[in-house]
Amino acid sequence: MTDPEFSPDLNQTVPDGLSETEPTDHQTSLSHVPVLAAEVLDMLQPAPGKVFVDGTLGGAGHTGLLLAAGATVYGIDQDPYALDRARAANPDGLTVVEGNYRDMGALLAAVNVTQVDGVLLDIGVSSFQLDDTARGFSYHTEAPLDMRMSQSGESAADVVNTYEEEDLAAIIYEYGEDRLSRRIARGIVYAREKAPIETTVQLADIVKRAYPGFSKGIHPARRTFQALRIHVNDELGALRDGLQAAEHLLAPGGRLAVISFHSLEDRIVKRFLLGSPVLSPLTKRPVVASETEQATNPRARSAKLRGAERVSA
Ligand SMILES: C[S@@+](CC[C@H](N)C(=O)[O-])C[C@H]1O[C@@H](n2cnc3c(N)ncnc32)[C@H](O)[C@@H]1O
Repeated sequence: MTDPEFSPDLNQTVPDGLSETEPTDHQTSLSHVPVLAAEVLDMLQPAPGKVFVDGTLGGAGHTGLLLAAGATVYGIDQDPYALDRARAANPDGLTVVEGNYRDMGALLAAVNVTQVDGVLLDIGVSSFQLDDTARGFSYHTEAPLDMRMSQSGESAADVVNTYEEEDLAAIIYEYGEDRLSRRIARGIVYAREKAPIETTVQLADIVKRAYPGFSKGIHPARRTFQALRIHVNDELGALRDGLQAAEHLLAPGGRLAVISFHSLEDRIVKRFLLGSPVLSPLTKRPVVASETEQATNPRARSAKLRGAERVSA
């Protein structure tokens, strides 16, 4: 890891305790309800004859709403299970596309689509993925330490068992924003010298040991799991590439809507929209969920929606 933004605190100490007021993350998601649904529809303005790319099809919640408005949707997902579910439902107007949304230009070109009226990215993991304990995203349930949305490439177990201690610390610090990243990385290396770390609960227990004062509240493993998930799936790299791909694919007047759940993601989206020569931001500040939505859908609490319109060819 050579990211210049990486600057771990060299004098890490145990924090006073993890606050209950920390933002809720994907780990607490229990619902398949699409986040910020009304706000997304308002931004994308679906209508009969319009063509959209949903780069993160997931449970097809947002896509279902676009289809209901009469639009055509190309739904991309890298998760074979999400694709199987969407194919089984087979709704009119939906073309299911397997792949990474960072490649949406090529994926759409392969089905002869070169311009669209809107692109939606609702990034991160779906509640289906979290609820499927065998996928290894949750630190609550014993499962193989996997976390790969696409089921290919390096798993979280590969990372924790083979990476250098300082690289593990960098990942946990940068993507998990955990002040105890070095202590956790040291604990991981110490543990794996005795036996490989193969399961979610094994890793969660190792992280917990780095927090000797922890008794209740949000589990200390939350940040480490988030960091590994972001790294294993190269979520920030995909987002950067996906934003560029969307910019190219949008027709003049076409709209982009991006929902993010993490400050690192939101920063990437914000900077991209401000720096684009052809996109005009539709949101000065990110749109957040209403109190009612936050009360009924925990995943909505950390959701931030930004949008832009393509203004020139
Ligand atoms: C938060 S869920 C989307 C939920 C969806 N909007 C809904 O309403 O049901 C994110 C989905 O995007 C997929 N995904 C995440 N990153 C991806 C990427 N880079 N390329 C393709 N799919 C991705 C995940 O596999 C997951 O199914």
